[in-house]
Amino acid sequence: MATIQLFLLALIAVVPRVLAQSPIFGQCVPSTGVTTTATTTTKTTSTTSKTTSTTSKTTSTTTTSKATSTSTTTKATSTTSTTTVASGGTTCTVTAIAQVASATASCTAIVLSNLAVPSSTTLNLSKLKTGTTVTFAGKTTFAFTDWDSDLIDIGGEDITIQGAAGSVIDGNGQAWWDGQGSNGGATKPDHFIVLKTTGTSLLQNLHIQNWPVHCFEITSASGTTITGLTLDNSAGNAPNAASGGLPAAHNSDGFDVSGSTNILITDTTVINQDDCVAVTSGSNITVSNVVCDGGHGLSIGSIGGKSNNDVSDVLFTNSVVKNSQNGARIKTNSGTTGTVTNIEWSNIQVSNISTYGIDIQQDYLNGGPTGTPTNGVIINGITMSNITGTATSSAQNYFILCGSGSCSNFDFVNVAITGGKDDSCNFTPTSGNFKCT
Ligand SMILES: *[C@@H]1O[C@H](CO)[C@@H](O)[C@H](O)[C@H]1NC(C)=O
Ligand SMILES: *[C@@H]1O[C@H](CO)[C@@H](O)[C@H](O)[C@H]1NC(C)=O
Ligand SMILES: *[C@@H]1O[C@H](CO)[C@@H](O)[C@H](O)[C@H]1NC(C)=O
Ligand SMILES: *[C@@H]1O[C@H](CO)[C@@H](O)[C@H](O)[C@H]1NC(C)=O
Repeated sequence: MATIQLFLLALIAVVPRVLAQSPIFGQCVPSTGVTTTATTTTKTTSTTSKTTSTTSKTTSTTTTSKATSTSTTTKATSTTSTTTVASGGTTCTVTAIAQVASATASCTAIVLSNLAVPSSTTLNLSKLKTGTTVTFAGKTTFAFTDWDSDLIDIGGEDITIQGAAGSVIDGNGQAWWDGQGSNGGATKPDHFIVLKTTGTSLLQNLHIQNWPVHCFEITSASGTTITGLTLDNSAGNAPNAASGGLPAAHNSDGFDVSGSTNILITDTTVINQDDCVAVTSGSNITVSNVVCDGGHGLSIGSIGGKSNNDVSDVLFTNSVVKNSQNGARIKTNSGTTGTVTNIEWSNIQVSNISTYGIDIQQDYLNGGPTGTPTNGVIINGITMSNITGTATSSAQNYFILCGSGSCSNFDFVNVAITGGKDDSCNFTPTSGNFKCT
């Protein structure tokens, strides 16, 4: 009661001032019809924005949604829109793709509400204003286009991208899936989401499903934490009319990381048909508390023959890899150069691994192994610690195929994957208690 009274007193004191300064509540790119709402949800809510919200509630038609009390205002022009937005008090709600450009140009709090992205269109969030929060609300959908452009581009400094409770980002993968992924068939968006965030950025609580080929490309990014995501491509496990009996989805990597630094992926589940996480270049990348289900495991590579071929300081830890081809792996490309330095997998529980529990191989060419390793990519400083669990009877627990002299400083401690057969290692870890029989 006392709190409410204090709040009302504050309100009485501030309302007249606010109204005098800004007779129209926070406006944002009204010329293109973006709906502007005053809201109380922003973390850094100022007295002014709170007051604005409360006032508008009492003076206009109010629409109330889940966690937010919002009030819709009508179109109007206001030269103070940017200031109001920057104060954290105004949210621009986008309900049609045509509103995205103006919203990203002028708003730092954007809600994408049940957005239907039409064909031949990328949801362009690539140049968000510094400090912007984008909230996906409701269901975000994508129409089919026979093209190879990405479907969502995200970039900017100090960005927060989040999902409202119950929201879903659905890539409509079924429209592209033909069992061939990026190896043939229909022209497909190579990545569903390209992420180039910097500063101190955060992606959280997104539920993403049915992406066409690879899901995330995290490239030229830094200082970004990804937490609480669910990537669910389980609908692509079953064959469809176009896939000739193969799983409909293919090459459906969860997170491809390249040329990026200081990245944390945590508390996330990936259900897919290819690498759960694949790091091909960059440094200081941590993957923790991740569950990988159905894909190809926690991977470095393939390394070599790309614009950036150096990866260092990667940690995969406290994670589960199940129903997957591999647990932990490094693959490097035949006849190329590069460096793989200081990579650790620790506390990984694996189960139902169908190809290799642990796999390090230097013989990849055109996406497959040749059987003949080359030594141009230097692998130095690999730690495997507390990796336990089971492979299927037709799998190999361990497979290590290094080039001549290109592997060094492998430390394998408490590695125990059982159930598979015919381990094969042409390089023995320099320390630890590892036995490749
Ligand atoms: C995306 O939008 C930004 C402005 O926010 C613009 O500079 C850029 O050219 C757009 N990208 C594409 C591919 O249209
Ligand atoms: C590595 O990245 C993390 C974020 O995941 C960051 O907190 C840490 O400071 C970075 N370490 C260095 C040495 O830059
Ligand atoms: C083992 O994993 C495969 C996918 O590699 C899956 O099809 C199968 O159902 C899994 N088996 C069990 C018992 O979960
Ligand atoms: C080994 O890893 C498992 C997770 O796979 C974890 O529960 C356990 O605590 C770890 N053991 C040690 C000694 O760290």
